[in-house]
Amino acid sequence: MSAKENPEVNLIFTNHVAQTLDEVVERMNPSSVHVLVDVNTEAFVLPLLQAESKAVANAKVIRVKAGEMFKNLDSLTSIWKQLGETDANRKSLLINLGGGVVTDMGAFAAATFKRGIAFINVPTTLLCAVDACVGGKNGINFNGLKNEVGMFRDADLAIVSTLYFNTLTSQELLSGYAEMLKHALVCSPQLTKKMLSYDVTNYNPDSLLKLLEESVGVKQKYVAADREDRGARRALNLGHTIGHSFESLALERKSPLPHGYAVAFGMVGALVLSRMKFEFPSDILNAYVEYVRRHYGAFEISCDDYKRLLAFMHCDKKNDRPDAINFTLLRSPGEVEINVPVTDDDITAALDIYRDLLGLP
Ligand SMILES: NC(=O)c1ccc[n+]([C@@H]2O[C@H](COP(=O)([O-])OP(=O)(O)OC[C@H]3O[C@@H](n4cnc5c(N)ncnc54)[C@H](O)[C@@H]3O)[C@@H](O)[C@H]2O)c1
Ligand SMILES: [Zn+2]
Repeated sequence: MSAKENPEVNLIFTNHVAQTLDEVVERMNPSSVHVLVDVNTEAFVLPLLQAESKAVANAKVIRVKAGEMFKNLDSLTSIWKQLGETDANRKSLLINLGGGVVTDMGAFAAATFKRGIAFINVPTTLLCAVDACVGGKNGINFNGLKNEVGMFRDADLAIVSTLYFNTLTSQELLSGYAEMLKHALVCSPQLTKKMLSYDVTNYNPDSLLKLLEESVGVKQKYVAADREDRGARRALNLGHTIGHSFESLALERKSPLPHGYAVAFGMVGALVLSRMKFEFPSDILNAYVEYVRRHYGAFEISCDDYKRLLAFMHCDKKNDRPDAINFTLLRSPGEVEINVPVTDDDITAALDIYRDLLGLP
């Protein structure tokens, strides 16, 4: 049975990527195979797969520039154009080989080319493996806004492995790992403890693959409960309200903060608020803060930044009340409260405690 016929089988965790891909492609029997890469995955990953996978060795290569600033309409147009020039038709298959930028754009291109062709995501960054490659969201940045245009469309298959992470920097690994910590916190105390005792910068490919499987399972559970992100899926916003405001402030300071770092720091704030509102256990808060201090450091803010940070949080599209900001918080790991209204005074208090906990002046 092909992955397409059985919607339950749209995610495979394996470090035998080439073999799996070849088996799946043979079953899907597309009229042509196209593989989308950016300049980095073309240099670091494509040759490895071409050497081992017949499907990839014979595939037509479609190239885009690397990085968030190229997740735009020009790159999307270029993908559509290259698909046409390499004779893709409605029965063709697109393999997205890359990080979240490649899978977000490739999925959108595949979902729209000829009104939709099959596509497989093969994530090559940890952030993409744990987050971007599953859940059905895709799209591009547009008009200065992130993910402004896109749609929901599941990949026919995502093949998650840890094979390609050895050319990622520690910073990229830690950025992806923050989303794994988030999944653990919205799942259970056991998974939280397990993740807090793992050092991703010194990973073992098999143990990390197992952790990824557990972590992505958490995302899938929330996505299945709320495909279009209207309710339960908001659990996955843990740490993102404050995190996005840190990201925006860092951009204004012209020293961008990787998304995962912003989330790791944002979750310190969210757990402090969780303690203030719901008595989130202090031992887990302290263990989390210790992990963040050791691996991520701290995003430096002073009380002079609070006004700006609050303004960013009020701009967040998920807020509909002017007097409060809706947060995703926790009673304890796995006990999630969504849409908790939090006042500016509470956020200010939480930011004071954030600075204190992370040793900022
Ligand atoms: N669709 C979703 O649900 C979802 C969820 C989370 C994030 N995202 C999106 O994902 C993007 C961020 O993902 P990302 O961090 O993977 O971005 P990315 O694709 O830009 O990858 C980061 C960098 O690593 C390089 N790279 C990729 N694989 C490599 C490898 N194996 N070795 C060396 N270099 C490699 C890339 O070329 C790029 O320069 C954002 O655009 C974000 O909006 C989407
Ligand atoms: Zn995130």
